[in-house]
Amino acid sequence: MFTENQIQSFNKNGYLVVDNFINANQRKLLIDRASYLIEMFQPPSKRTIFTTDEQERASDDYFLGSGDQIRFFFEEKAIDQDGSLTVPIQIAINKIGHAQHILDPVYKKVVDELKLPKLVKQLGMQKPRALQSMHIFKQPGIGGEVGLHQDSTFLYTEPMSCIGFWFALEQANRENGCLQAITGGHKIPLKKRFRLSSDGGTEFDILDHEPWPEKPLDMFEVEAGTLIVLHGQLPHYSAANSSSKSRQAFALHFVDRNCHYPEDNWLHSNYK
Ligand code: FE2
Repeated sequence: MFTENQIQSFNKNGYLVVDNFINANQRKLLIDRASYLIEMFQPPSKRTIFTTDEQERASDDYFLGSGDQIRFFFEEKAIDQDGSLTVPIQIAINKIGHAQHILDPVYKKVVDELKLPKLVKQLGMQKPRALQSMHIFKQPGIGGEVGLHQDSTFLYTEPMSCIGFWFALEQANRENGCLQAITGGHKIPLKKRFRLSSDGGTEFDILDHEPWPEKPLDMFEVEAGTLIVLHGQLPHYSAANSSSKSRQAFALHFVDRNCHYPEDNWLHSNYK
């Protein structure tokens, strides 16, 4: 359970860093399972690239239908102009998402062991729903930047309720693209909302026109095993990985079932 100090710190800063949360065995299970799933994966002819850059964010059927599936998204730099891989597939994947915590027995076992619902309840959520999981690779040399964003932009409820659990499966530092965030920035209004548009694509609603505060981001250099809990409105970022070491992470995001989940949210799942 979180201590009172940890809960206060989360409420004040918008995040919480907990060392040694996910053990070496659990990390190995997830890393090995991801590798196995990639080995079994038959890439579709059109490969979907993942980026949070708003112009390019994947919004094809493969991405939009991934809410209750296990799907594979490529690094932009892993695919050349002809659509061919520039690197072996094991180091070409940007992430696997978004329902392995429900569909895959290994992910499900590890997630169950971590007993997250009781923790997320301590942070004020009434009826936690584990909505979205992601295995994030940040591949050596080609792992792309993830621009400054708030998770509630993509996992939106009314009122907002998103809380993310981010687990370092490997060491994360400034060289391989660790998380960075604006401490206390969860008090900034939600800047935009990503949603389905009426023409079948996706779009952003701009909710707040103020620019981000001009303040250096705090850098979370953490050891493998660390948990970082992220408030859904906390602005966070990660740089490209220019190093030779991957920076694998597993992330699981919760929303509150007591909040309204709009029909035009991008992510839909049969697993309620
Ligand atoms: Fe995020």
